[in-house]
Amino acid sequence: MTAPVNSSWIESILGGAVPAEGERAVRHGRILLRDGMILRDDALVVRDQAQTRDAFAFKWDKRDTYASDAMRGAMRQWLADRYGDLIGALKAHGGNPIVLDAGCGAGFSGSLLFSEHLNRLRYVGADISCAVDIAAETLGPLAAESLFVQADLVRLPFAPGSFDLVYSEGVMHHTPSTRDAVAALARLVRPGGTFAFYVYAKKSPLREFSDDYVRSLVADLTPQQAWDSLMPLTRLGQALGELNIEIDVPEDVAVLGIPKGRINLQRLFYWHVCKAYYRPDFTLDEMNHINFDWFMPKHCHRQTPDEVKAWCEASGLAIERLKAEEAGITVVARRPEAAA
Ligand SMILES: C[S@@+](CC[C@H](N)C(=O)[O-])C[C@H]1O[C@@H](n2cnc3c(N)ncnc32)[C@H](O)[C@@H]1O
Repeated sequence: MTAPVNSSWIESILGGAVPAEGERAVRHGRILLRDGMILRDDALVVRDQAQTRDAFAFKWDKRDTYASDAMRGAMRQWLADRYGDLIGALKAHGGNPIVLDAGCGAGFSGSLLFSEHLNRLRYVGADISCAVDIAAETLGPLAAESLFVQADLVRLPFAPGSFDLVYSEGVMHHTPSTRDAVAALARLVRPGGTFAFYVYAKKSPLREFSDDYVRSLVADLTPQQAWDSLMPLTRLGQALGELNIEIDVPEDVAVLGIPKGRINLQRLFYWHVCKAYYRPDFTLDEMNHINFDWFMPKHCHRQTPDEVKAWCEASGLAIERLKAEEAGITVVARRPEAAA
């Protein structure tokens, strides 16, 4: 941690001091162990999330397949397109806004979205997997002050209303209930603060079927076995992509949710049959990483815009921006200031 143990903002959000190295303390009902740079929830995870934890720990350890310039550049642009000027909105929160990156993983998207602004953020990274150790190594030194916790995002040890910004990119659909995760994180947003998140969108019927089917085949494999068993699918996606041909779908195929029009053959397969990612500038391992990321986690819910809108409303948040794409739904929502 770059912040001193007695930093007042950390004490305030935890409701007490960070315990000494190797010591435990109860904070907001959770038993936390101070283990080097990280505060770890003793119970850590409910049993059926151990698979999610291990799948992501494996994934984040494969740094060479998600940290290339091509992948970082593509992600940076996509984040900017979806979230708009999130950092500009943070300026309203004064000098050093407190930001929670909920499900930060290794800090990949957080480092791109917050990039040069990190040095004025009080950054809290939380993840269920030990990928948070990598985030602490890479983002800790860049943030003005920071705190890293290994914990379940529906049981975080923070006071309600602790954060100016809660950011959760591609995480909540991996918990047992996306709705419960939205509610849990929304509680941590202070009045006037922002909740920015991305969850997967519901796809067309064959694609929905193959998502669940392939996931059921790989979910009980070891991460390495799953990685290897997805490679042939990745090669198929690559072969389709390299054909680089388009076809005309002559009319809407309503029974399969396929719209009429011209579409690249690989995209037709990808969106309407089975996820087999392809980008010409990505390596085979990078493409397999994206397929692995999709199929390996046991929980991987897909939502509709109406569901997401209803959950924000139920949590008292006003949606300022909702961008629904084929892949997912990005939301920027605000908790109204408390009435004077
Ligand atoms: C696709 S990754 C996204 C990581 C990061 N948000 C980013 O954009 O780079 C999903 C992350 O969610 C974490 N995760 C899944 N379930 C979680 C939970 N219940 N609590 C906290 N983190 C969770 C995983 O460990 C993983 O690091």
